[in-house]
Amino acid sequence: MVEILPSILAADFARLGEEIARVERGGASMLHLDVMDGHFVPNLTIGPPVVKSIRKITKAILDVHLMIADPDRYAPIFIEAGADCVSVHQEACHHLDSTLRMIQSEGAQAGVVINPATPLSTLDEVLDLADYVLIMSVNPGFGGQQFLPNSLRKVRALDARRRQMNLNFHIEIDGGITMDNVSDAVRAGCDWIVAGTTIFHSEDPATAVRQMQHLAREATAIRA
Ligand code: DX5
Ligand code: ZN
Repeated sequence: MVEILPSILAADFARLGEEIARVERGGASMLHLDVMDGHFVPNLTIGPPVVKSIRKITKAILDVHLMIADPDRYAPIFIEAGADCVSVHQEACHHLDSTLRMIQSEGAQAGVVINPATPLSTLDEVLDLADYVLIMSVNPGFGGQQFLPNSLRKVRALDARRRQMNLNFHIEIDGGITMDNVSDAVRAGCDWIVAGTTIFHSEDPATAVRQMQHLAREATAIRA
């Protein structure tokens, strides 16, 4: 089943509780939380206290995307704060397999992320370990960027590899997702679709989630 994950990066942080309630009313059962440290990416966002506050107001699955230089040090702190899924960048990890195992042993699902310029082959040795793989469809750091179409080529190749190896990790995509390309992403093989601007900058975020879910479901029917 395909999930739409609203990215709170595009929400109004002064009214975060209301914003989250809106997308939940639209049917979102997973939320995407972007953590940036000003080193790995040129932007700063939220830390564990914000995740902890969000944990208190929602039952949604919290997917924490770590865009930070030292994921080994901070992943356990985010899990303690309430993260259900934690993804780390291949580019930031020295011992990727150990980091993924550590996240799992701390009780969360472990995801691995690759930037647009990072080849899929860098994940060959961890595909049997990861709970999910996140393909970035923009360079990480900011919301509201233009979708990079090459990412779909990677998703297709990853989906083929998943079948070939008989694995069942989820494929997530993040960056520049709109009502116009969500179906392409699903048809390419994505299961988890992150969308920030398209949802929170729309007139009614609940309707935007519903509309995106509808498009995703229609595309799944074609995929199957
Ligand atoms: C970008 C973040 C994304 C971002 C997506 O670095 O990882 O999750 O919030 O935002 P949109 O959907 O606006 O591209
Ligand atoms: Zn993200």
